[in-house]
Amino acid sequence: MGIYKIAVLPGDGIGPEITEQALKALKAVAVKYQHEFKFTEGLIGGAGYDGAGHPLPQETLDLCHNSDAVLLGAVGGPKWDDLPVHLRPEAGALLPLRKALGLYANLRPTKVFPALVNASTLKPEVVSGLDVLVVRELTGGLYFGQKKREDIPGGGIRVIDTLEYTTPEIERIARLAFQMAQKRSGRLVSVDKANVLESSRLWREIVTEIGKEYPDVELDHMYVDNCAMQLVKNPRQFDVIVTENMFGDILSDQASMLSGSLGMLPSASIGGKIGLYEPSHGSAPKYAGLKRANPIATILSGSMLLKFSLGLDKESDAIEQAVTKVLDMGYRTADLMEEGMKLVNTDEMGDLIAENI
Ligand code: IPM
Ligand code: MG
Repeated sequence: MGIYKIAVLPGDGIGPEITEQALKALKAVAVKYQHEFKFTEGLIGGAGYDGAGHPLPQETLDLCHNSDAVLLGAVGGPKWDDLPVHLRPEAGALLPLRKALGLYANLRPTKVFPALVNASTLKPEVVSGLDVLVVRELTGGLYFGQKKREDIPGGGIRVIDTLEYTTPEIERIARLAFQMAQKRSGRLVSVDKANVLESSRLWREIVTEIGKEYPDVELDHMYVDNCAMQLVKNPRQFDVIVTENMFGDILSDQASMLSGSLGMLPSASIGGKIGLYEPSHGSAPKYAGLKRANPIATILSGSMLLKFSLGLDKESDAIEQAVTKVLDMGYRTADLMEEGMKLVNTDEMGDLIAENI
């Protein structure tokens, strides 16, 4: 039994409706296991800009710093796309929040739930039983390197994005990935582009070096283009994948689709004092308010929050088991719908999962 403070940042688009479903699940856990979760809502993204003049209001940042964990819906939408970059939901809120909380490691697990083995666009025999964890470096690389746009005398524009990494940045994400692999099947694939990029060459050297501290983990290196190919050819060869920020952004979306829908993929951003939990998908503005969105990625993010920030392992498992059960019962949101299944909306899926905890 414990008392925990959870900051809740619903954000934009479908963010509020999916966050609401994750709260239902967390509340059910609180009742069942006699914990007290104190939820406090904060503004972020377009909602922050509209309500408080900034996508990441100071109040929200303070709220996060004063909480045990942060649950985030999603940010962004066409309404805010024409704002100057620093005021846009993605660049003005999400990236600075990750940086401010020191969240250098982003965990994106893809699991194929048995009930969904036919929902994937790949053949069931290719994805059945799949369980992959992408560990994405989250506070370095192209996302945070110097950017520049300048006029070329005589016409045209030159743009520069900088891909920068330091030894300590690579060491810490490598260690975390090795530790994750130790807890799973003991296999780690480090993904880079060492045949072209200097940053990747250092990445490979350091990951190899750190690997000596983890002799029980089998380490392989793979080029990112090959990894993209292997992920659709034979995804079950992977257990844990570790890679830099931009490669991880791309590969984790790809890996998520193996599970049938981007709407199934949760994420945990850790490494700082306070963890941030959010679905890997975005705010899907065109579905906002339609109650069509799949809340499972957010609900599973709540499950990761319990495990990684609060250390509540059996409570975390209880959420995952409830998701499994409801899928086994044949309930599907629109993104997963197949013939013979029972179509439910966002709220109904949230209720079903909470009831089965
Ligand atoms: C993600 C998203 C973000 C990212 C965007 C919205 C900035 O795609 O969390 O994967 O690229 O990190
Ligand atoms: Mg992404």
